[in-house]
Amino acid sequence: MDVVAGNCAKKAMVVLALVLGLSGICSRASAAPREAKIGFALSLTGAAAAYGETQKDGAQLAIEEINARAGQTGIKIVPVFEDDASQPQQGVNVFNRLLFADKVVAIIGPTLSNTAQVTDRIAQKAGVPVLGISNTAKGITDIGNYVFRDSLTEMQVIPDTVNVVEKKLGIKKVALMYGNDDAFTKSGYDVFKKALRDSHIKIVTEQTFAKGDRDFSAQLTEIRSLKPDALVVSALVEEASGIVAQARRLGIPASVPIIGGNGFNSPSLMKNAGKAAENVIVGAAWNESSSNPLNRAFVRAYTAKFGSPPDQFAAQAYAAVYIMLDALKRSGSTDNPKALREALAGVNDLDTVLGKFSFTPGRDAQCKPVVEIVKNGRFTVFGE
Ligand code: ALA
Repeated sequence: MDVVAGNCAKKAMVVLALVLGLSGICSRASAAPREAKIGFALSLTGAAAAYGETQKDGAQLAIEEINARAGQTGIKIVPVFEDDASQPQQGVNVFNRLLFADKVVAIIGPTLSNTAQVTDRIAQKAGVPVLGISNTAKGITDIGNYVFRDSLTEMQVIPDTVNVVEKKLGIKKVALMYGNDDAFTKSGYDVFKKALRDSHIKIVTEQTFAKGDRDFSAQLTEIRSLKPDALVVSALVEEASGIVAQARRLGIPASVPIIGGNGFNSPSLMKNAGKAAENVIVGAAWNESSSNPLNRAFVRAYTAKFGSPPDQFAAQAYAAVYIMLDALKRSGSTDNPKALREALAGVNDLDTVLGKFSFTPGRDAQCKPVVEIVKNGRFTVFGE
């Protein structure tokens, strides 16, 4: 009986092996996955390091997940991480290295629009796709058809933020503060100004500052004297944290909400400004509480790996790696930047942690913004 059963089993295995062999399953499973070398230009030091660090973590988590399944997908991501130091010139050095020494098939980054407006021209000229994950200033994707982003622009987020705030809080007059030495903070300022005007909200004063400023008392003292209903700020998170903390310290009451743009979207705002960050209102592309199953799994895995929940920057970086994977699969190659560009342009309704994701015809992100408010040290949903 045992001998018969054994013979049957052997025969079955031979038949199975033949079927698998003929259908190509065996050969696919044993073939080494093709490697896609992707460059990451992130601000791991300097003014935007708070964003760059979580971007790197988000990207690394996605790469680990993808590479663990390389046997099935046939694609392995080989990342080359570089620090652009939050500086355009360093961004240029990094892009040159990634494009011409490492010969990457695509670049994800750089962190700041201020850098992207210089570096992305190099990628465009080289014919290598670049996918921004946090660039929100106007005009970045206008650089050319190789430039994409999965980050919603200030233009896509701020008018919504102003509408929600106007409806919920009925503000009539605001003070406006912005960094006048940065492409993103200036862009945010332009959009806030237009959105406030469109909502018939009066701007009682405009105050400026620059990257690296630490003392905002002159501007905030002037603002306090004008008794605005709200303080509207376009800043990167270092300066945003200082402004928020000092506004409360100088006696601008908690009843005067502080409203920020994309630069506020980092937990380092709460870490640096402490209790003063409570009730800060921010427009965002993503919120941790989104019930999207992919997002729930991402938040769980990220928190388990890094010990704290992801922020919007980590989510956009994580989504970008999966957007690349989707395009790589459809491009039929892992080392053809032109084919990858075509495939990226075709990303359509892809399930991501940002929700269903597509690019607009102009290669900007098409997903839904959300308005957040800081409660008990966390970004929570204020309105959509
Ligand atoms: N959203 C910021 C920028 O575009 C980080 O520079």
